[in-house]
Amino acid sequence: MATDETTSNAQNTVTPTAEVSISSVLSEKRKFPPPADFALNAHVSSMAEYEKLYAAAEADPEAYWAGLAEKFHWFKKWDTVLEWNSPFAKWFKGGKTNICYNALDVHVKSWRKNKAAIIWEGEEGDQRVLTYGELHRQVSKFANVLKIAGIKPGERVAIYMGMVPELIIAVLACARVGAVHNVIFAGFSAHAITERVNDSRAKMVICADGTRRRGGSINLKNIVDEAIVNTPSVRSVVVLKVTNEEVHMHNGMDHWWHDLMGLAADECEPAQLDAEHPLFVLYTSGSTGKPKGILHTTAGYMVHAASSFKYVFDIKDEDIYFCTADVGWITGHTYMAYGPLLCGATMLMYEGAPNYPQWDRFWDIINRHKVTIFYTAPTAIRAFIRAGNEWVTKHNLSSLRLLGSVGEPINPDVWMWYHKVVGQERCPIVDTWWQTETGGIMVSPLPGATPTKPGTATRPLPGIMVDVVHKDGTPCVANEGGYLVIKKPWPSMLRTIYGDDARYEKTYWSDFNDMYFTGDGARKDEDGYVWIMGRVDDVVNVSGHRLGTSEVESALVSHEAVAEAAVVSRPDELKGNALVAFVTLKDEYVGDMTLREALRNHVAKEIGPIAKPDEIRWAKGLPKTRSGKIMRRLLRELATSNEIKGDVTTLEDFGVLETLRDQESD
Ligand code: WT7
Repeated sequence: MATDETTSNAQNTVTPTAEVSISSVLSEKRKFPPPADFALNAHVSSMAEYEKLYAAAEADPEAYWAGLAEKFHWFKKWDTVLEWNSPFAKWFKGGKTNICYNALDVHVKSWRKNKAAIIWEGEEGDQRVLTYGELHRQVSKFANVLKIAGIKPGERVAIYMGMVPELIIAVLACARVGAVHNVIFAGFSAHAITERVNDSRAKMVICADGTRRRGGSINLKNIVDEAIVNTPSVRSVVVLKVTNEEVHMHNGMDHWWHDLMGLAADECEPAQLDAEHPLFVLYTSGSTGKPKGILHTTAGYMVHAASSFKYVFDIKDEDIYFCTADVGWITGHTYMAYGPLLCGATMLMYEGAPNYPQWDRFWDIINRHKVTIFYTAPTAIRAFIRAGNEWVTKHNLSSLRLLGSVGEPINPDVWMWYHKVVGQERCPIVDTWWQTETGGIMVSPLPGATPTKPGTATRPLPGIMVDVVHKDGTPCVANEGGYLVIKKPWPSMLRTIYGDDARYEKTYWSDFNDMYFTGDGARKDEDGYVWIMGRVDDVVNVSGHRLGTSEVESALVSHEAVAEAAVVSRPDELKGNALVAFVTLKDEYVGDMTLREALRNHVAKEIGPIAKPDEIRWAKGLPKTRSGKIMRRLLRELATSNEIKGDVTTLEDFGVLETLRDQESD
């Protein structure tokens, strides 16, 4: 079984030179081989098998991807697997296909016709089940609605709804007719909608009257009304009734979803689209200013979304897969909509908040629906730890066989809690590293093959060539911190930033010669496992050592009192920079001077005196983006000047900032 050694405090740094950019201080030695019975039935069941696949894909990537692509339905087969005019890729050029056809029609023509595609649970406990047959019927009808409304292939459609099945129906209907969907997370403001609709010049907005949230509701249509005052491209708005709240329907512009569906036929021929036909634009925030419209196209995205889903989640027809991501994020696109449906899987979709009505909602869902695979984010797991184990342990979670994590580095101690309390030491954990830009998972264990270590996404998937390099592009040695790059194009890569090829080249392809730069700092250990150290702009320079913030945070989180921590720097006359830690304690602990000292000493013991925080501030909550990422930029401002001047529009909860100001005097 697992070698459950405790974290060693060896300082794993290589002497920094001008070349060596980031020192790694985290040294995690625990290792967990896949359980034998899991490996036995897995799609990939040993490291030897993984190594063989990886080597074959590395030797001939095009043959590898073509082999996967052959499993799909093509109206016309491709002529060329990859045409690469760096940094612009065309995958499966000359081929014609339709991702909606592959996600639905293929299954409807098989025994899966009456299999559940989506099991939906509303926040209030209401339930719906859509079989592949029924989903196909609804999608075909809505595809006809789009056609009747005059939406042509290539035109953009913005979608702004909560987590209801119609969100997925709208997405798939766009794909069916070749319209380019632009899903905007339902937590965004009118201003954010205006910006995204204008940048993509969307012709239609599909929204709901409202969305349920923690027992109340948010009127989405009012927000859309405000947003589209300044969007000249929008010709019509389709409104789905979800909450039945009062909305203003504007003559000629606004239409009820149910009225239009009532008129539409339930058969719709899928458009035969070029492999490179644009599939969707999804906006993600850039480091400064204007959000970037990440453009993904049809066939390459389809191939990687489906194959990564199959292998990473080891999906079987009997599984019930529950991903907690909102479809408004890339995780929701690839692993709530396309990936599972392309694989003919059954997924569970939950409408609401994890703590409604209480902190055990997810565990209650898992127990009642006998969920087998659960995929969530470290920020959520840390919140569960804080809420207390009893919310988890009072439910029977024996149906679970696999757990996943995405979005941030998972602190080793958070990983251990997930493993022990949720996975009951039975379920492998797939820590999946990827980005909106990569379209699908890039680095992750294969659960039946890869021995896992808490805190690392382990090895790249076959066909994915990642490396950790110096500033000059030369590879780092084992355990030397550097920049995470991708060395070869992959099918689900972004094709450009919508309407801005120059920004695409500059952002991703100008730092390292002919390699894609991820923006992340990382190291590879002696087993070739990738340890993400945080975004490079989250790197802190202390006395000449550049430390990845996530490593210091993990040391703090390994203390029994700590639920969550964010570490930033502020200028310091002596050291260049001083470390400031914002710490959220578990509910039963009180922040005082004694605990402050204990935490400082704990970090010194875990990773060494250079990482000892100079200041610790207690935080009831940390400022996060709506997708759960800690906004360290704001914390840096607070730590430096005790005030915030920068842009806070993506912040989820404004209240938390107030409590974080200088407190050393308490
Ligand atoms: C950034 C991408 C991919 C879907 C959700 C986020 C960080 C993501 C991990 C992981 C460490 C991770 C990286 C990456 N990240 N997954 N497993 N371990 N870091 O998508 O908003 O485009 O963010 O999230 O920093 O670059 P995104």
